[in-house]
Amino acid sequence: MLHRGRISFALLTLAFATSIIDTKNALRRTSMIDTKYHQTKSVEMIRCLVNCDADFSFNDSVIIPASCRTYSNAGRCGVSFEMDYVRKTGSISFAADNATDIVFETGLLVDARFSFEPNVERKALWSYECATDNDCATKYFQKHISHYIGLTEQLETLQNLMSSLLYNDSNLPTVHQCYRDRDTFEDCQSGICTYSWVGGDNSTTNYACEPAKVPVNVYYQIFRTDPTIPASPMLDEVRYVCNTNKCNSFEYGVGIRLAIATKWGGILDTNSTATNLITGPRYALLSVSVILMKFLC
Ligand SMILES: *[C@@H]1O[C@H](CO)[C@@H](O)[C@H](O)[C@H]1NC(C)=O
Ligand SMILES: *[C@@H]1O[C@H](CO)[C@@H](O)[C@H](O)[C@H]1NC(C)=O
Ligand SMILES: *[C@@H]1O[C@H](CO)[C@@H](O)[C@H](O)[C@H]1NC(C)=O
Ligand SMILES: *[C@@H]1O[C@H](CO)[C@@H](O)[C@H](O)[C@H]1NC(C)=O
Ligand SMILES: *[C@@H]1O[C@H](CO)[C@@H](O)[C@H](O)[C@H]1NC(C)=O
Repeated sequence: MLHRGRISFALLTLAFATSIIDTKNALRRTSMIDTKYHQTKSVEMIRCLVNCDADFSFNDSVIIPASCRTYSNAGRCGVSFEMDYVRKTGSISFAADNATDIVFETGLLVDARFSFEPNVERKALWSYECATDNDCATKYFQKHISHYIGLTEQLETLQNLMSSLLYNDSNLPTVHQCYRDRDTFEDCQSGICTYSWVGGDNSTTNYACEPAKVPVNVYYQIFRTDPTIPASPMLDEVRYVCNTNKCNSFEYGVGIRLAIATKWGGILDTNSTATNLITGPRYALLSVSVILMKFLC
């Protein structure tokens, strides 16, 4: 029976944490989203590492501390690791989740935040959950952590691309106009432009001028599961604040989404990692294609 239900994700709802800095608090948060799903699987318990937190540097070989010895049986195992791609440090946290409505075998969510000068920031909070076998989260972490550390350069390239489209380091005002919807723009003297997109079948995009001087930044969230659940595209989100003239255009938005979809770097260990952060006609890319080619090829 297909019915309106709720999925709760204890770990994956880190997505909803407004600050990605406070991992440990975020881990305790839960949030619900409404979705349609068909529950096909009864919960089988697997063994998961719990009560294990550690900090590491990208320079070190990253190992799970020997002091982590507590295991719990649960429906899903989870690991989240917050990576600071500028400072080159990270922190991990293992946990287990007993939510009874398991609707995916593996799920990966990333929350990433980029900010520009004077405080350059590049942070990603990766959250993985699995219901596949004993210790699946620790196995995933051991197998893939070097991949996530290796994303350092790729994410720097992504930030440079974003910077070339969205950021002008001039002290003088550079925004004169911002889009307020896909086709019309308005005066925005000395302000900044904003763009925000939420995915799903009925994806929405908002365009605005903000009079305040908010620092230029980009935030995105991508959620993928195997098997695919209908809720996952609804959780995809891209938001940015930019200070170049008319930088919140439909074309720039699509360009930024394309760049993120190409460079986000997540691994789900299945074939369902492909992102589809682009909706709308390809011709929209024409005006930013020259800049994108430079970075994506
Ligand atoms: C990593 O190693 C480099 C070069 O040895 C050093 O400059 C840097 O401070 C180290 N980073 C951390 C976070 O330890
Ligand atoms: C999950 O539920 C099982 C059985 O009720 C319990 O033994 C276990 O401690 C729970 N695990 C967690 C992480 O809450
Ligand atoms: C940056 O802003 C300055 C001052 O408004 C302007 O002269 C310059 O053309 C801008 N640069 C870019 C790349 O938009
Ligand atoms: C999308 O919008 C249409 C028309 O408003 C509605 O019928 C449909 O249920 C919506 N789909 C979702 C997934 O919300
Ligand atoms: C995943 O993709 C590879 C290459 O396209 C294919 O060989 C493999 O069978 C696929 N695996 C699954 C589980 O679909």
